[in-house]
Amino acid sequence: MTQDELKALVGQAAIAYVEPGTVIGVGTGSTVNCFIDALGRMPVRIGGAVSSSQQSTARLLALGIEVLDANRVESLAVYIDGADEIDHTGCMVKGGGAALTREKIVADLAERFICIADESKLVTTLGRFPLPVEVIPMAAALIARRLRALGGEPALRSGVVTDNGCQIIDVRGLSITDPAAMEREINQWPGVVSVGIFARNKASACLLGTAQGVRTLRF
Ligand code: 5RP
Repeated sequence: MTQDELKALVGQAAIAYVEPGTVIGVGTGSTVNCFIDALGRMPVRIGGAVSSSQQSTARLLALGIEVLDANRVESLAVYIDGADEIDHTGCMVKGGGAALTREKIVADLAERFICIADESKLVTTLGRFPLPVEVIPMAAALIARRLRALGGEPALRSGVVTDNGCQIIDVRGLSITDPAAMEREINQWPGVVSVGIFARNKASACLLGTAQGVRTLRF
């Protein structure tokens, strides 16, 4: 199976976690696009979605799915999103699509985070994928120096402005052996909007697309 077929497989499988008529959280990315397409095929529709990006909002609206402001929602039963990397404890690196801050907000509203990913995303230690950090533009150089002091090689993602009007620094060369500690550390630096380590908001389960079908990892 191709990577796109694996994404379609897990996008469809995630429908099993969606209660018709409820409001759900929806992430961002090519795997989530497959999930949104599957939502469009549900015979009984969902009540609406809280979306993590303008990109997903446009796709949801095009299918006639209502998109609610996060401020109108107290909690969500489930949040479905992809990942750039996921480890065997459910911690993730996210933000390849520059939507990490809104993804973290919607994940925080949800009781369960169901990660959907093809098997190439499963890793032993996070950090092979460059770690995205969303920053306030005036702090970009300061934060890049701090990231270098942590042992990483930071690079500003050129030409990218996030949905929040901020910039992304991608950090290569980090071995994230303690995701929760590194998330806490980087998050507290002035000028950091959020770091793409999802340890506090880790996955409850991962639907992993493999050549043998969907493998469910529970954390
Ligand atoms: C966007 C994300 C995505 O979930 C992540 O980049 C995975 O994307 P894809 O499903 O296209 O591989 O974090 O900010």
